[in-house]
Amino acid sequence: MPTVLFDCDTGIDDAITLLYLATLMRAGEAELIGVGTVHGNVDSRTGALNTLRVLELAGVEAGTKGVPVAVGASRPMAQDVHYAADWHGIDGLGDTGLPEPAGRPVTESAAAQIVRLARSRPGEVTLLATGPLTNLGAALLLDPELPSLVREVVVMGGAFDHPGNITTHAEANIWHDPEAADLVFAADWPVVLVPLDATHPTAVGDRWLDALAAHDSAAARFATRIMEFYVTAYTPTLKRRGAVIHDALAAMLTVDPGVGTYVERPVRVELRGELTRGTTVWDARSLPAEDHRRPVKIAVASDVTAFQDRLLAAIHSL
Ligand code: RIB
Ligand code: CA
Repeated sequence: MPTVLFDCDTGIDDAITLLYLATLMRAGEAELIGVGTVHGNVDSRTGALNTLRVLELAGVEAGTKGVPVAVGASRPMAQDVHYAADWHGIDGLGDTGLPEPAGRPVTESAAAQIVRLARSRPGEVTLLATGPLTNLGAALLLDPELPSLVREVVVMGGAFDHPGNITTHAEANIWHDPEAADLVFAADWPVVLVPLDATHPTAVGDRWLDALAAHDSAAARFATRIMEFYVTAYTPTLKRRGAVIHDALAAMLTVDPGVGTYVERPVRVELRGELTRGTTVWDARSLPAEDHRRPVKIAVASDVTAFQDRLLAAIHSL
């Protein structure tokens, strides 16, 4: 059973992922020991309050009295901060205007929380990151021994044989903080990367969305409401009613790697290209000969039916 420290930018697919993680906790398939939030879809503090809202809706005690939710980096390491209100709403949850959560974030920063929990449970913690990687990059700078203390790092991000979703070649989580992402891929720890190559084919459509809406529970009603905003944003891209719940696939591959298909390649991030900054590069011909970074396990496909059916069943179980 993975011991998960979740780092996210709680927007809509992060929120669906929190619902899924709550069901995994209840089923004894994962232990969620903390959440850190980072700039990305929304600012990191709003992301923390959204995380508390969703965990409380899922029946998980969170905040200073339960699963700690730590506010992380408010901006990237070396560029201006950008948000994604068009895709996730100004409030990050489809502008659904949910009330304030009962719980409050802890005072510890997300990066400090990563270091503390990794040191408190050496070799046990899986970092699941579904936002920009600023907190993970900061934690690596804070504690150079971190890679030896972490069991695995699972990242939703990147694009290889698939177009980018924020520029021609770059995927949003990487593009939001390329320096932090390159620190993560250069570190000597086991990384599983779940790029758009794997997530885009899992796009849900009418059948899934209608089945979600047909279920009468607080969690299903909430998921339906936020997905409506996300589907409106995604439909022009997909050219059909639907949306890509990217982050939930990374979470599912964390607890059941067999759902995915993988290749192993070293990965670098373009940091200097004026037009290509934030692009993830896996082609050995593009990597400097002297660069011997550890290969990354990259998901290139998944069992789409298994993903969609399990995610729907999980939300319906709340
Ligand atoms: O590119 C998709 C990723 O960017 C997802 O994690 C989504 O939540 C946004 O953060
Ligand atoms: Ca995200």
